[in-house]
Amino acid sequence: MDAHPQKKILIAASGTGSNADVLMQCFTEHPEIGVSAVVCNKANAGVISKAHERGVPVWLFGKKNELEPENWFQLLRCFQPDLIVLAGWLKAIPVEIVNAYPSRILNIHPALLPKYGGVGMYGMRVHEAVVHHGEEESGFTAHWVTEEYDEGPIVKQHKLNVHPNWTAEHLQTAVQALEHRYFPEIVEQQCLLLKPLSILTTP
Ligand code: GRF
Repeated sequence: MDAHPQKKILIAASGTGSNADVLMQCFTEHPEIGVSAVVCNKANAGVISKAHERGVPVWLFGKKNELEPENWFQLLRCFQPDLIVLAGWLKAIPVEIVNAYPSRILNIHPALLPKYGGVGMYGMRVHEAVVHHGEEESGFTAHWVTEEYDEGPIVKQHKLNVHPNWTAEHLQTAVQALEHRYFPEIVEQQCLLLKPLSILTTP
């Protein structure tokens, strides 16, 4: 038996997938970590072609089953990931899955939580709110997913200064660059700390 089996990551993404792409790139040749699949809930999302280009399997949820715990359990039984990374996943994760994967679902949020988080705060809305409130700094937050939306324990934050003349689009570009630079190493560190998930608790 392999003494050091590779840790497996499942990436959930609903959109463009630029963060998913840097994660797939980072872990393609990683000796201890691999991306087993990308789960998506939009048939036309940019992340799908990115996964195909990297040779990573895509699991597509239909509109009606994206929130069904049984569909998630089916996915998890199939890929047995050690860590689930939400990289632009816009739907809630069923509470049964959160409970089955405590401190194993990592989300990236494009602001400095606890500010500018919660239901409805995603994508450009976040950056517009930050600019609207004249914040002097923003950045991104990596945090564990719990039942409370965007309120789980913070793993790491990276900050940047918001230039007074910036629009929300400028801020989005700057935050994305920061995410691409630092999120992979956060995922790597957390993944390597995890004990192998040998038995998946399913109902
Ligand atoms: C990122 O800004 C991330 O913080 C948020 O959703 C965005 C996803 O962007 N959760 P992309 O699809 O990775 O380009």
